[in-house]
Amino acid sequence: METRFVTIDEREPQADRIEAAAKIIKDGGLVAFPTETVYGLGGNALDPEASRRIYAAKGRPSDNPLIAHIADFAQLGPLVAEIPEAAQILMKKYWPGPMTLIFRKSQLVPESTTGGLDTVAVRMPSHPVARALIRAAGVPIAAPSANLSGRPSPTRASHVREDMDGRIDMILDGGEVGIGLESTIIDVTGEEPSLLRPGFISEEMIRELFADMTVDAASIGPVSPDMHPKAPGMKYRHYAPRAQMTIVRGGQEAVRQKICALAGEELRAGRKTGLICTTESRPFYEEMLRPLLGGSENAGERLDLVTVGSRRDGSSIAHNLYDVLRSFDTAGVDVIYSESFEEGQLGGAIMNRLKKAAGYHILDV
Ligand code: TXA
Ligand code: MG
Repeated sequence: METRFVTIDEREPQADRIEAAAKIIKDGGLVAFPTETVYGLGGNALDPEASRRIYAAKGRPSDNPLIAHIADFAQLGPLVAEIPEAAQILMKKYWPGPMTLIFRKSQLVPESTTGGLDTVAVRMPSHPVARALIRAAGVPIAAPSANLSGRPSPTRASHVREDMDGRIDMILDGGEVGIGLESTIIDVTGEEPSLLRPGFISEEMIRELFADMTVDAASIGPVSPDMHPKAPGMKYRHYAPRAQMTIVRGGQEAVRQKICALAGEELRAGRKTGLICTTESRPFYEEMLRPLLGGSENAGERLDLVTVGSRRDGSSIAHNLYDVLRSFDTAGVDVIYSESFEEGQLGGAIMNRLKKAAGYHILDV
């Protein structure tokens, strides 16, 4: 299949380009498009054939359900069996935006979209391109992240191209997305809301509204084979670069020292080593590791020191994280070490993705 690449203005999407993309969706095809969280791989949520194509393009197990994206509140009613009061409160506060809610589904939603579940995930994105596309298509758009299953979610159109070229009909290139981590998922089908996946809308922010909110175990720690996470996607080793990654956790100074020692061993053994650092810690690693590399010509090739963002601005870390993880695949590193981040607010979502990427390989110092 030939994939068309179309650039689009992220603030004022050109109507003719949106129309062309919407026609593909109406005809049962697939279009990748930007949202405020990550790029999505969209198809008609009400067309079982389109969801089958989505699973095939991603190489994704078909028991892992898709999120239906809507542009207006009027599109919600037909998809769900009921709208609980907790949902009304959350929607009022956070839609349109980076939040997905799990409802009991209506007859209209095919089981191929929900992976056989009797619930449906719905999100109303705020990104102008996503909203224009959903409106023009006239149907809810089922969209998982537009990556091959198991790879980090795409936050740039170039990431989508890496994974999806030749597998889908069109990629709308609206530049880098804003947030960079997938939406917060909240199940509102139970007595109390339950957090299934942390995101930009943090656990703390939801707890302000619902003090008794529960947190699904799969969103916190490793998922053992006997666990059944409420968000089936949480059981897969997501967001992962190809090389083994270790997170070093503890006081900042101790972490830097430990990472230098570990990276030093790897480099001496001739292994290509990826290091995730921050604007604040970068000069430290440069100084500590440069003598070890002896200023040799291939020093830069063996050490891949990447700044993910600044500790003073957690959103910069979220924004760059998946690009950094992907860059290690491109560079072909053998091993990766990362600093850890404070877990509160957005840091909770950052550490959730980082831990999954590391397969929960954490070294406490
Ligand atoms: O930010 C996002 O949510 C992005 C953009 C494109 O909107 N989409 C996204 O989709 O991250 P995906 O498919 O990569 O992740 C959706 C997650 C999966 O973990 C899936 O198991 C869960 O949502 N999910 C979907 N439907 C569900 C349901 N009915 N019950 C529980 N979990 C559900
Ligand atoms: Mg995904």
